[in-house]
Amino acid sequence: MPIRAYAFDAYGTLFDVHAAISRHRETIGPDADAFSALWRAKQLEYSWTRTLMGRYQNFWSLTGQALDHALSRFPSIDNSIRPALLDAYWRLAAYPDVLPALTRLRLMGHQIAIFTNGTAAMAEGAANASDVLPFVDVIVSVDEIGQFKTVPDAYGLLLRKLAMQAEEVCLVSSNRWDIAGGKAFGLPAIWVNRTGMPDEYADLAPDRVIASLSELV
Ligand code: LAC
Repeated sequence: MPIRAYAFDAYGTLFDVHAAISRHRETIGPDADAFSALWRAKQLEYSWTRTLMGRYQNFWSLTGQALDHALSRFPSIDNSIRPALLDAYWRLAAYPDVLPALTRLRLMGHQIAIFTNGTAAMAEGAANASDVLPFVDVIVSVDEIGQFKTVPDAYGLLLRKLAMQAEEVCLVSSNRWDIAGGKAFGLPAIWVNRTGMPDEYADLAPDRVIASLSELV
């Protein structure tokens, strides 16, 4: 069956999560990169532990909790930056390879979905701010099922929303754990390995690995 839709993970794939920090690099100081990485790692950890516990809270709430933890681990960073960092999350930049890739997919007649752990409002906000929104046919947020990726129902929700078979929907994600989840569910999947990371989840290999969305089609 030919691929009819491409489903893009949001954070790290379309939108640069570390861009929120970059805008305030001077205020944050020399720990900016370590701080940003911890914020992101805790945001994801909370999504997985809460899904396992059956104690869902939405991704916006977890993003704030993860930021509070990161701020408490880096006492040198002034806490007054909190609102500005959270606000930046709604205006994340898209990577430079995003709009050209979406343009090509559209010309080829494919449907385009954002498939995210974020709330629909968060995804729409970032997509709007980065000019990605006009290319998007549907935003699929796991908020609708109250569980995060990599739970199989999350990938099932994607198929339900697109009204397509697994073979027709290609997952595109820079998060290797998300690719593993998609493959475990049975989706075609392309890993965008932007930073040259070593492979993981050997039994759940992507169908293709690309370094940039410019190689997608
Ligand atoms: C997303 C995050 C987890 O689902 O990258 O968009």
